[in-house]
Amino acid sequence: MSRAELEADLRAGLWGETPSLPPRWFYDERGSRLFDEITGLPEYYPTRAEREILQQRSPEIIEITGAHGVDELGAGTSAKTRVLLDALTAGGRRAVYAPLDISSEVLLETAEELRAEYPTLTVEPAVADFHHLPPLVGEAGERLLLFLGGTIGNFTEEERGGFLAMVRQALAPGDHFLLGADLVKDPARLVAAYDDAAGVTAQFDLNLVDVINHTVPVTGLHREDWVHEAAWDEGASRIEMRLRAVRDIDADFTGIGRRWRLAKGEYLRTEISRKFRLEGLRTELAGHGLEPVTSWTDEAGDFSLTLARASEDLREPRA
Ligand SMILES: C[S@@+](CC[C@H](N)C(=O)[O-])C[C@H]1O[C@@H](n2cnc3c(N)ncnc32)[C@H](O)[C@@H]1O
Repeated sequence: MSRAELEADLRAGLWGETPSLPPRWFYDERGSRLFDEITGLPEYYPTRAEREILQQRSPEIIEITGAHGVDELGAGTSAKTRVLLDALTAGGRRAVYAPLDISSEVLLETAEELRAEYPTLTVEPAVADFHHLPPLVGEAGERLLLFLGGTIGNFTEEERGGFLAMVRQALAPGDHFLLGADLVKDPARLVAAYDDAAGVTAQFDLNLVDVINHTVPVTGLHREDWVHEAAWDEGASRIEMRLRAVRDIDADFTGIGRRWRLAKGEYLRTEISRKFRLEGLRTELAGHGLEPVTSWTDEAGDFSLTLARASEDLREPRA
């Protein structure tokens, strides 16, 4: 990810009413490794819950979709996806897997591991931003596009609508979309999942300050001037991750010729994570021409996977 892209995001995000940056800047190599550590934390239930569903449903998903070509957006280490890849390649079946991620080191390292683990699988990694999809692998009508981990929750309402429309455009009728989405639950559990006792999520959040310092010319932006926090916004049904300033910030972004001041006690919003109610999400998918076939949750009802089928016609999205 380039200096010019970050500078564009800084310009768009820092001087608004609520200063914010898109979460993609978390994921340099260190950020990706920290995220991987988060997925194993006791408080971070989404990964375990989604893996539980995949363990139970992967053969069924492959059977329903008939997929030979699988694309995955924001694949990361493809850790859970291996459960689905086991079903995809069962009995020596040949298939193609195309993981896409902006975090190049982890993506390419994972692709090498997968080639060794799955001899009948062709692995075609793409270092790209999932806001601009490359052509998908597989034959029209037999494709399966994965978007796991609850990453859909990182979009605003408007961004999510645009993203789902883009997904439907990228698919042919009969292709399938498998979406992992986190569900509304006790706010205390949600907050703990984004502010763990061991402080790994805090390290992940603070890594953003390092990424900015490494990527663009700036003075006055120091990691020790910030603390991480997670807050539940009931009205917006989302967790917000924030870096709160513990002293006055006066940062000079010399590359874009702008100064950014933030008073002690104010915050930079670094991530939103929307939590869904399943019925609402299914209606939204259908409104974008992605007709839900089945939804599953883990036994505790914490997390959902919805398999949706691209409709025959490309309609205008319903409101
Ligand atoms: C919340 S993690 C989920 C990782 C994995 N899918 C999982 O379920 O554990 C989000 C992933 O999306 C990637 N990512 C974030 N923003 C992205 C973007 N704009 N384009 C492509 N990948 C992105 C990150 O590098 C990271 O691997």
